[in-house]
Amino acid sequence: MDGNIVSGSVWRAVGVIDDIPRLGSRVVVSASGDIAVFRTADDRIFALYDSCPHKQGKLSQGIVHGDQVTCPLHNWVIGLTDGQAVAPDEGCTRTVPVRLDGQTILLAVGGS
Ligand code: FES
Repeated sequence: MDGNIVSGSVWRAVGVIDDIPRLGSRVVVSASGDIAVFRTADDRIFALYDSCPHKQGKLSQGIVHGDQVTCPLHNWVIGLTDGQAVAPDEGCTRTVPVRLDGQTILLAVGGS
């Protein structure tokens, strides 16, 4: 068994936490689509596909607050932990498993 494999995906190093400003994000290109990696004010890291469940706005260009991001197009609020739109809006953006190994950000993305 390989501890680096997660559900058919491989942990991939995509940079270090200081590559992302607090309340900011960075886009990681993957074979399955662009992934927005967010850093909260308290240095937690989350990753979602960079596509709003409403009309595919780029969440990486949204405003991060707490553990949510507000889409730049029509202000839907999306939870960073689960990708769910906050009511009354409905929809979900896929999350991507992410973890920190020291300062290094690791994303579980499909192997290529
Ligand atoms: S595309 Fe995100 S709120 Fe409309």
